[in-house]
Amino acid sequence: MLKDQVKELLVQQVNKEFYSAYLYLNFANFYQSKGLAGFANWYQVQAQEERDHAMLFNQYLLNNNAVVTLDAIDKPDTTLETLMDPLKAGLAHEEYVTSLIYNLYATAQDVRDFRTMQFLDWFVKEQGEEESNAHDLITRMELFGSDPKGLYMLDSELKTRVYAAPSLVL
Ligand code: FEO
Repeated sequence: MLKDQVKELLVQQVNKEFYSAYLYLNFANFYQSKGLAGFANWYQVQAQEERDHAMLFNQYLLNNNAVVTLDAIDKPDTTLETLMDPLKAGLAHEEYVTSLIYNLYATAQDVRDFRTMQFLDWFVKEQGEEESNAHDLITRMELFGSDPKGLYMLDSELKTRVYAAPSLVL
């Protein structure tokens, strides 16, 4: 049985992960409008992963007999102008999500909810990978983005990213 404070944060996290998917879909649409189909693909895949995260939190709640009532998803609030804007906003967003996961973990720890801590372990690792990917994209954009050929090559590489279902199965 989940404690109220843990359950509340888990339900909020469903919303935050769907918001992440929405945010990244907005990034994908921005890049598509700029003719960068590879960047658009990368963020479309990212949006799919975020939707998976939302579904995993939802399923974990259901598996623990929680009644889940969903809230409205916010409008993506990022103003996008330069090609670098989504990349920087993406990193800032992932750092924010990491702080949410850590807060959830600390709350679960406070009430000795070891099952939720174990569930969250996968997300702690995932956040490390997502922050690293976001850093990497910024670095490569700084290195190659101002050169048209470099940008073309980077876009071509990002076009090859394919969606894979999450390794966590509930
Ligand atoms: Fe689901 Fe990118 O955090």
